[in-house]
Amino acid sequence: ALEKKVVKSKMGEKVGLPCYYEIPITESFHNYRVYWQKNTIEVVLAYAEGKKISDNKQYDNRTELDQRNLTLWISPVEIMDNGSYQCVVQSLTEPVVVRLVNLFVTADFSEPNVTTEVFASSCESTEMVVRCSSHGGFPEPKISAAINNETVMWNDTSVSQSSLSLYSVTAVLWHSVTKDVSFTCSVEYSGLVKSTTLPLKKAGDCIVPPAPAPYHVITASSIIIIIFLLAVALAARYLSRH
Ligand SMILES: *[C@@H]1O[C@H](CO)[C@@H](O)[C@H](O)[C@H]1NC(C)=O
Ligand SMILES: *[C@@H]1O[C@H](CO)[C@@H](O)[C@H](O)[C@H]1NC(C)=O
Ligand SMILES: *[C@@H]1O[C@H](CO)[C@@H](O)[C@H](O)[C@H]1NC(C)=O
Ligand SMILES: *[C@@H]1O[C@H](CO)[C@@H](O)[C@H](O)[C@H]1NC(C)=O
Ligand SMILES: *[C@@H]1O[C@H](CO)[C@@H](O)[C@H](O)[C@H]1NC(C)=O
Ligand SMILES: *[C@@H]1O[C@H](CO)[C@@H](O)[C@H](O)[C@H]1NC(C)=O
Repeated sequence: ALEKKVVKSKMGEKVGLPCYYEIPITESFHNYRVYWQKNTIEVVLAYAEGKKISDNKQYDNRTELDQRNLTLWISPVEIMDNGSYQCVVQSLTEPVVVRLVNLFVTADFSEPNVTTEVFASSCESTEMVVRCSSHGGFPEPKISAAINNETVMWNDTSVSQSSLSLYSVTAVLWHSVTKDVSFTCSVEYSGLVKSTTLPLKKAGDCIVPPAPAPYHVITASSIIIIIFLLAVALAARYLSRH
């Protein structure tokens, strides 16, 4: 039976890859040969006559075989363990059985870190650079941005991979904020999502230039000022005479 099964696991956890085979209680594990292989060529763990007959450095001390249902236990799971596994069972009495299991390994990304930097501000808008970064995850992520729940395109994104195969991602957006909005940065990997939302605020209130006074107000105030000046002049003349 070449049916494929899928098993998911997080880096560092313990995972069991089922062989979907059960050695009957009446039979002895010693009468079986069991091979757990990866990507069809690499032997992960093999047993014959009840003894371990494999030696794989990558899986050293991390594997264990259940001697009844032939489940392969791996602990702790590493990124490199991601792949397609095969369980091959041979016995004297039954035909060879081959079972396939796909192991998808994931590692959680950090909560996205969003920072903003204002580089210009006017009355109408605030120009900002918004940066979002997240690290330490697997597999390769997609990073997306949304303003008030509407997707926006990043101006630049970059993805890098560490020696341990873990990914880091950063993205930059230049945005002109004309009113307070909510910004969300989301990192998506293998069906999982980590996201951070924060408000983008238009920078401080700007000084509204005073509206020019209406014409009749100017006229009225001018008349009042002229009358006042005349009064002062008359008063000065009157006082200087006495
Ligand atoms: C195999 O046996 C182990 C313990 O004996 C159990 O935890 C596991 O669920 C079994 N797996 C299957 C596929 O039956
Ligand atoms: C595996 O375990 C053996 C014995 O416990 C130990 O000597 C060996 O160094 C271990 N190997 C690794 C890679 O940890
Ligand atoms: C992990 O293994 C699965 C199963 O073989 C494969 O489909 C997938 O592409 C692998 N993922 C990565 C990132 O290599
Ligand atoms: C977020 O990024 C800023 C700027 O790169 C950095 O100074 C800060 O330490 C980061 N915060 C976290 C929680 O990683
Ligand atoms: C965005 O969507 C979420 C849920 O779909 C909702 O709770 C939130 O109010 C929305 N925000 C805006 C700014 O529309
Ligand atoms: C950023 O992208 C927007 C729209 O995609 C574009 O209008 C703007 O010029 C870009 N800014 C920079 C500095 O590349």
